[in-house]
Amino acid sequence: MENYPYCGKLVKKTFSADETLKLGESFAAGLNNKNLFLWGELGAGKTTFLKGLGKGLAVKQKVVSPSFQLVRNYTDGSGRLRLIHLDLYRLSSLEEILHLGWNDILESDAAVAVEWADRASDILPRQGVFMKFSHIAPDEREIEIYSEKRNIPGF
Ligand SMILES: Nc1ncnc2c1ncn2[C@@H]1O[C@H](COP(=O)(O)OP(=O)(O)OP(=O)(O)O)[C@@H](O)[C@H]1O
Ligand SMILES: [Mg+2]
Repeated sequence: MENYPYCGKLVKKTFSADETLKLGESFAAGLNNKNLFLWGELGAGKTTFLKGLGKGLAVKQKVVSPSFQLVRNYTDGSGRLRLIHLDLYRLSSLEEILHLGWNDILESDAAVAVEWADRASDILPRQGVFMKFSHIAPDEREIEIYSEKRNIPGF
């Protein structure tokens, strides 16, 4: 996270699930913008990254795929920040997430991580940590990281 730029784009590559987990863990250390928005195809590594982030934040519970739950809360244990994990894969409308208190969640002092954030691209804030995950080969993933929504192609 030390080299995380405040504008433009950063590209990371990982060659195993463990590397992606470690990348997530390393992000926890310097997490200064607490809202992370992740997208990319099924199995691209979003949850794997967040498992590492949860470990780095020392949240008490293991981070799992929220699957049938849109929002999951992880309490902070001995960590700095609690984590709120959203998965919008099954989101049927933006109203659904707005009713869940989307704005309050983003403004809370928790670290907020949103999988399938592209499903809510219209209501994403202008700034945050925006991460696009791509499946390159069975064990290889590319992660494009942006800090400004306006720099993301197609958003
Ligand atoms: N370099 C890698 N990074 C992350 N995961 C990898 C990598 N190589 C292989 N994998 C495997 O790919 C899968 C990634 O699954 P994960 O649940 O993290 O994806 P996801 O993006 O959250 O998918 P979904 O959209 O279904 O929530 C895991 O089975 C993991 O072991
Ligand atoms: Mg997932």
